[in-house]
Amino acid sequence: MVMRALILGSSGQLGWQCMRDLPAYGVSVRGVDRRVLDVSKGNASDWLQRLQRELEAFKPHWVVNALAYTAVDRAEDEPSLARQVNGEFPGVLAQAVERFLPGCRLLHCSTDYVFDGSSSEAYRESDQTNPLSVYGQSKLLGEDAVLAHTDRSWVLRFSWVVGEHGQNFAKTMIRLACERDQLRVVGDQYGVPSPTTFLVREFVRLMRHPQIEELASQNRARRRFHVVPSGETDWHRYAQLCVGAAQDNAVLKTKLKVTPDDVVRIETKDYPTKARRPQNARLNCDAWCALHQMPSLPDWLQETRTILKSIINHSQSA
Ligand SMILES: NC(=O)c1ccc[n+]([C@@H]2O[C@H](COP(=O)([O-])OP(=O)(O)OC[C@H]3O[C@@H](n4cnc5c(N)ncnc54)[C@H](OP(=O)(O)O)[C@@H]3O)[C@@H](O)[C@H]2O)c1
Repeated sequence: MVMRALILGSSGQLGWQCMRDLPAYGVSVRGVDRRVLDVSKGNASDWLQRLQRELEAFKPHWVVNALAYTAVDRAEDEPSLARQVNGEFPGVLAQAVERFLPGCRLLHCSTDYVFDGSSSEAYRESDQTNPLSVYGQSKLLGEDAVLAHTDRSWVLRFSWVVGEHGQNFAKTMIRLACERDQLRVVGDQYGVPSPTTFLVREFVRLMRHPQIEELASQNRARRRFHVVPSGETDWHRYAQLCVGAAQDNAVLKTKLKVTPDDVVRIETKDYPTKARRPQNARLNCDAWCALHQMPSLPDWLQETRTILKSIINHSQSA
């Protein structure tokens, strides 16, 4: 059977990757971008009508919600917009799935920002949430709304998304390494990059899970999962990796003004930002591995090197 997936936020980093990669896994896709549905405008009943049309026209087996307000610092100045997009809209989407398309399932994307990062351990799904920022609070609202409105929903949390399309830390580091003589990057915040290619593969794992029907009837707490590659790093070491990858490219090498050794490690206190970030963004993925009966998830370094190569090759051909 050909599976169909409706991708919300199809112009973003992750939505774009879903559109590109899912067909290769036998999943036919239809994208919804801001031109079709702008959730900064209108109200819940407008969104519901639009969603009904999309769901009834395409009849997806899955909806992937990669639509989000992701400007973490700007969210501090626009809290009501962030809450509308990240907190309120996901609940309306879950209601639409529940009401208009029996059997359709919802995969909702979320983040490590729901935690305050004060733990010394990698966070488990059952750990206490305590978002430090408007963005984190709005994402947590969205998670709860999704899980409350339909049993056919799953929330997947990940960290530090990086992909070929759109804006991300890796692209910024490579650009700055060509513009500046020195880079100063925070080295006391820990986590792991989640390449979009990796995430789409994990999405397919859930979509194809042989016991998906039984999983849908499980309680809310058991439909929330952490999904990131194995291992950990910090932003400073990650920046060094990005510059190193750029150095390996013959054309880019000639443009670089810094080497990985020129990336200076600083502390969070030396780089004040409007929104506070969790110092520990590490997510424990044991529950996800148990669900799929696998010993571990792929190694972050391998996954990140691969996506950095795609980013760099793409920037050369663009
Ligand atoms: N980025 C990260 O590091 C990170 C980390 C952990 C989790 N996540 C989560 O992963 C998911 C995907 O993130 P991403 O990095 O792919 O985000 P992204 O690149 O910022 O893409 C967000 C998508 O949402 C759309 N969008 C934003 N506001 C909208 C609105 N008012 N109406 C309609 N569409 C709107 C954007 O459309 P436009 O292109 O038109 O703006 C874009 O398609 C999100 O749920 C995010 O919270 C991200």
